[in-house]
Amino acid sequence: MTDNNFNPSVEEWYYPDENVRATSNAPDYDATYTKAMGDIESFWAERARSLEWFEPWDKVLDRSGAPFFKWFVGGKTNIAYNALDRHVKTWRKNKLALIFEGEPGDKQTYSYWRLNQEVNKFANVLRSMGVKKGDRVTIYMGRIPEIMIAMLACAKVGAVHSVIYGGFSEQAIADRVEDAQSRVLITCDGAWLRGNIVPLKETVDKAIAKSPIVETVIVVKRTNQPVNMEQGRDYWYHDLMTLPIASPRFETQVMDAEDPLFILYTSGTTGKPKGILHTHGGYSVYISTTLSWVFDLKDEDRWWCAADPGWITGHSYIVYGPLILGATGFMYEGAPTFPYPNRWWKLVEDYGITVLYTAPTAIRGLMRFGEAWPNRHDLSSLRLLGSVGEPINPEAWKWYHRVIGKEKCPIMDTWWQTETGGFMITPLPSTALKPGSATRPFPGIDIDVVNEAGESVPPGTDGNLVIKQPWPGMLRTVYGDPDRYVRQYWNTYAKQGWYVTGDSARKDKDGYVWIIGRNDDVIKVSGYRLGTAEIESGLVSHPAVAEAAAVGIPDEVRGNIIYAYCILRSDYSASEALIEELKEHIRHQIGPIAVPSKLEIVPSLPKTRSGKIMRRVIRARAMGMPEGDISTLEE
Ligand code: WTA
Repeated sequence: MTDNNFNPSVEEWYYPDENVRATSNAPDYDATYTKAMGDIESFWAERARSLEWFEPWDKVLDRSGAPFFKWFVGGKTNIAYNALDRHVKTWRKNKLALIFEGEPGDKQTYSYWRLNQEVNKFANVLRSMGVKKGDRVTIYMGRIPEIMIAMLACAKVGAVHSVIYGGFSEQAIADRVEDAQSRVLITCDGAWLRGNIVPLKETVDKAIAKSPIVETVIVVKRTNQPVNMEQGRDYWYHDLMTLPIASPRFETQVMDAEDPLFILYTSGTTGKPKGILHTHGGYSVYISTTLSWVFDLKDEDRWWCAADPGWITGHSYIVYGPLILGATGFMYEGAPTFPYPNRWWKLVEDYGITVLYTAPTAIRGLMRFGEAWPNRHDLSSLRLLGSVGEPINPEAWKWYHRVIGKEKCPIMDTWWQTETGGFMITPLPSTALKPGSATRPFPGIDIDVVNEAGESVPPGTDGNLVIKQPWPGMLRTVYGDPDRYVRQYWNTYAKQGWYVTGDSARKDKDGYVWIIGRNDDVIKVSGYRLGTAEIESGLVSHPAVAEAAAVGIPDEVRGNIIYAYCILRSDYSASEALIEELKEHIRHQIGPIAVPSKLEIVPSLPKTRSGKIMRRVIRARAMGMPEGDISTLEE
């Protein structure tokens, strides 16, 4: 089953402007790819040498515990040292690290110097609250500079951050806090979105009621509405940051290359989200190399990755990657359409953004409002564009290219996952592009499209996308569940030792990769990754629901939307009010993004003889398509 049915049939080439090619940071693709594949260890070692290490590594790649690979074994580093400390020793201390605009229009800037001072102060606060190396700290905040400060301060202390996207609700937070055994939580009173306040602190209070393991809550004041502050548990960030303990001097903790940096929960095929674990060393090398070569960041650039820091895109390419490269990043708090659908284009003009990286769903959403909105603004500062999160349909690609990029900005369609840490299949600025294809693997990345038996499929044929060699940015495990790590990613092709991505793809005759979509029970809704099982277990946790099935249905703007079907317990009867109540329940259990667009009460669900719900059949029915092979169908 695939969750995207677009057909890359028409072949069109877009060649980059000579100027883009001539000035790019990236080396020649073919030569570098060949060289890297000849000796991946030397290739990555050379890349690692562009960073600072407290102590060099003894071994680049240790395969002995495969699939628990280790990178830069014996090396000592700290990602925050490379992101901040080393820059403030150079002229770069005067450079802007971050430019911020809030949804209400408030503005802030942080030089590398100021950002480092704030991070040091907060690192001292955390340490004074007993946070030590290896402790897990949960961060649940809006898109404001303090989320970066909090993440970087954790890194400096050597604590492991677990950022939960601000769109998730209380049960999702409680589950993640519990899984990570996190005693400290950092949040805000609220976040601005579409002119309204998202009451983050209120949600945190409800989550802690379910998961009392949290002992300390630090609250950033952002939206100013009254919030409940529990004596002895809740502290205002601004109070803590003025205490004498919050000194701007902090000695960054020396970490092992393989020490954990963060856990990021993502959806998989069961109801329980997986804590994807990334480390200090290999991850630093991987994200800085990919960002430098793909988006070609230079000192003159103003880089805007419009994702949320709460997703892997934000971790790698809002927070850590740009700072390691010493770049200037831009962050905007709110909705692209607030107060009008020109907000993003106005921001590009106001701040002279040169590189914009966003998701197809955002492009399609803004496309709906027509060209007049972007055309009102001078977008000539842009030189490169990017896309991530789901396949970009050629129509949206071309609109982005023509209307936003004025036909001079190559589009970097980057395929990757929370698990991969950074871009895996992606063009470089000099790559000839085909709209809808993420093109070819990054140098050092060995991918293939194979059938169930593990044989490469011929060009034009769908298969499973696999990765055949380890890479430094790879996840190291599923937090607290190493068996799940092995089962989920390495068991399908255990004999060959390949990583299975969960995506279907095809290669064309030029070796360009076309991602078809997920081939497991993961749905991408507006680029957000959700598991059908997560939504189903959310529904079943309501007393009225006996059984539930959720499926993804293609949608023009959001990529996919969720349809859900519920069987009620015998003492409940169907009504509009109950349907609304169930939707509300999901909003609280998981978050607004998981609320089904359609929720139907049904007397039965199609199941196999073994009792497994046949989502393929449900989905086909919902879309009015033939149901395919239903010979195993029982009900
Ligand atoms: C999908 C997001 C097509 C894919 C960084 C992958 C894409 C999943 C692309 C990971 C792309 C991501 N083209 N599909 N350029 N980028 N995907 O973990 O299905 O939120 O497996 O990471 O998004 O989603 P995740």
